[in-house]
Amino acid sequence: MILTKINLVNFRNYYKCNIKFNSKINIFIGNNAQGKTNILESVYVLALTKSYRTNYDEILKRNGSDSYKIKGQVKIGKYFKDLSISVINNEKKVFVNDTNIKKISDYVSNLNVILFSPEDVETIKGSPSLRRDLLNIEISQLNQQYIKNYNEYNKILKMRNDYLKLIYTNSISDIRYLDVLTDNLVDRATYIYKERLEFIKKINFNISVIYRDLTKTDNLKVRYETNIDIEDKSEEEIKKILLQKYQKNQNREIIAGMTLFGPHRDDFHFLINDSDIKVYGSQGQQKMAMISFKLAEIPIFEEITNTKPILLLDDIFSELDKTKRNRLINYINNDIQVIITANDTVGINKKLLENAKIFKIDNGKIIDKGDYNGRK
Ligand SMILES: Nc1ncnc2c1ncn2[C@@H]1O[C@H](COP(=O)(O)OP(=O)(O)O)[C@@H](O)[C@H]1O
Ligand SMILES: [Mg+2]
Repeated sequence: MILTKINLVNFRNYYKCNIKFNSKINIFIGNNAQGKTNILESVYVLALTKSYRTNYDEILKRNGSDSYKIKGQVKIGKYFKDLSISVINNEKKVFVNDTNIKKISDYVSNLNVILFSPEDVETIKGSPSLRRDLLNIEISQLNQQYIKNYNEYNKILKMRNDYLKLIYTNSISDIRYLDVLTDNLVDRATYIYKERLEFIKKINFNISVIYRDLTKTDNLKVRYETNIDIEDKSEEEIKKILLQKYQKNQNREIIAGMTLFGPHRDDFHFLINDSDIKVYGSQGQQKMAMISFKLAEIPIFEEITNTKPILLLDDIFSELDKTKRNRLINYINNDIQVIITANDTVGINKKLLENAKIFKIDNGKIIDKGDYNGRK
């Protein structure tokens, strides 16, 4: 799919802004704090109805304004679709071709984006919950059923933890209700495991080739870590193993007052030659690994949605040397629409920029709309 244009009103530091995108590479350049990332963020919000930088719509409204609006046109094959999102006072509304879509979940599949933001590198270095969040967000974009199961899992998990505490403090001897909760939890857990393993398997199918293309060095792979032995097991087997685990550890869980096993305790790692780059990787390796992860998602999205997603790459060149910058541009200079932000395009091979539209941003204004295709 292609985002042909976008129209912002009172979004972040933009009063009014119209942008016509190129169907291939678009690069927004400018100094720091001018509004480059805000453009990417607006595309992300149009796609997913919420930002990745804040949970508060208030912050997205231009200072002093009580509303914002983002409109965009998406092209899939020869069909066009108009999308819009607005927040007026506290009311959020989304439209597809002038039809108000009541349920956000019915809206979000209209525009598929894959975002790389510099903060994503923290996901490699930070706590396991960041990596679980990443998996959850990415799989949810592709699978409504996953969101449903995941939300139910969390609800049951909370009830189960509460009940475990109750058994301990009130010495309740009837554990039949615990068994009911455990059964329900195991059902959702099995589904979550299955989807996560499938996703990781698909990532691994692509990621090492991408990483090698970009760095000309070692193999990168991703490994899912869990304290349940679920590898290469069928759904029925996973269910049985989980149930046994809970039965065997019942006393431990009662004393701990919480559920000690299941997808909420899992993690995944990025490995180069079998060592975890969280511990052994350089900053540059970690950044390249995360970019490779995002690029490895493209075929997964394409397989499920039948169209390529739009790549949003924020502040992509910093920390990468000239050779890696060029390899990256070369890699994405393909049959996919990309929106990039960068301070400048210094060191990028001019030939690679022939398909690019280069916009200059200054203080919430586009001072060069790149209409001459960067070849003035
Ligand atoms: N709600 C808002 N209203 C007005 N300006 C904002 C708002 N939110 C952020 N800004 C401004 O946007 C600028 C940062 O934009 P950003 O796109 O993150 O910069 P960069 O070009 O470095 O990527 C800052 O000048 C900040 O003050
Ligand atoms: Mg920025």
